[in-house]
Amino acid sequence: MFITEIAKISAREIYDSRGNPTIETTVQLRCGARGVASVPSGASTGAHEAWELRDGGDRLMGRGVLQAVSHVEGEIAQTLIGKSPLNQRRLDETLCQMDGTENLSRLGANAILSVSMACARAAAAALHLPLYRYLGGLPAGKLPGVMMNVLNGGLHAANNVDIQEFMLTPVSAGSVQQAVRMGVEVYHALKSLLHEKGLSISVGDEGGFAPDIPGDEDALVLLEEAVRRAGMVPGQDVCFSLDPAASGWQDGVGGYQLPKRGRRMSREEIVEFFTELAGRHPLFSLEDPLGEEDFQGFARLKQALPGCLIVGDDLFVTNQARVQTGVAAASAGALLVKPNQAGTLTRAMDAAREARQAGMALIVSHRSGETDSDFIADLAVAMGADFLKAGAPARGERVAKYNRLMAIESELHS
Ligand code: PGA
Ligand code: ZN
Repeated sequence: MFITEIAKISAREIYDSRGNPTIETTVQLRCGARGVASVPSGASTGAHEAWELRDGGDRLMGRGVLQAVSHVEGEIAQTLIGKSPLNQRRLDETLCQMDGTENLSRLGANAILSVSMACARAAAAALHLPLYRYLGGLPAGKLPGVMMNVLNGGLHAANNVDIQEFMLTPVSAGSVQQAVRMGVEVYHALKSLLHEKGLSISVGDEGGFAPDIPGDEDALVLLEEAVRRAGMVPGQDVCFSLDPAASGWQDGVGGYQLPKRGRRMSREEIVEFFTELAGRHPLFSLEDPLGEEDFQGFARLKQALPGCLIVGDDLFVTNQARVQTGVAAASAGALLVKPNQAGTLTRAMDAAREARQAGMALIVSHRSGETDSDFIADLAVAMGADFLKAGAPARGERVAKYNRLMAIESELHS
């Protein structure tokens, strides 16, 4: 049996795609193998996410992660050096026990996740396995499809669009290569369309365009035109996945208010709004269409729209217990998996397994603040996820994930 142990753990402060500090950790093994991992960061975060530890104070607008770095190089390194990197669950449980809080706020979920992922990378390297095989064995079924965010509203754009993300979901693609190519062609068709209409082609945090258009439905009409311009048929070749991120629409007294249009809406009106929208446009999925505590509202919409995948992001925050609540209430058809909401790889994989056992789909996701890491592409393959959601097919930190998914596909075919 192959035996190795953790010899050294180091960490440093690096910068993410928004220019905010984040943590990168390196785990060095006795056998010579090493693993490096960095952690992304969200903007429209769920209230129940694991805790991202920031330094506060004046330095780097209070967003520095030097405390997290010192926790990794101090307490965590002292405990893990000499341990086997090959038992991910035991390592992650040790990290959680050391922290001692439920949301990992003492050592910082960013510190803990960086170690959890770097250990997995080091172990895979020691065993000479690609990361997806180390985490999940040989992929049994189809590789994940893609959800590409190409048009932005909500908190991510200064326009009149309340829905945060409009994603392309190529549904007629026979391979990852083809799905990505279709997404790229529509992205470029959309760019030329916006340009012709005199609309802005500058891009937001996730690489999607943020044109100043009158409202949400105009965005869908534009996307349909872009799909046709790229020689494809909306609804047949490419469908649309929306992330309204409606936690941000809650008015604090049990109702909703669309922030841009200022319109007040009840839960019933939101359900009606999306049901009608789905009647007029090919909507593949709706992520967080209601508030993050509204398990019942989700269930109502799921019942009203059986043909559309209802996805829980802020609702579940990649948390096994919240997935159980959602399953009991029949709230959603899919779990969005963001490892940094969970804080360790094991916690993220447990939430995913819980969802899978209940027959839910899995969508592995980036954050709006990303690094050049392609870890989540391997994770999506390892989990047998249905989709990888990694932003537009533009900007290095976004395409790194799609390029890795294509590389895995080629590797599996050769
Ligand atoms: P975030 O946004 O990474 O800023 O949380 C993405 C999402 O809501 O899915
Ligand atoms: Zn979301």
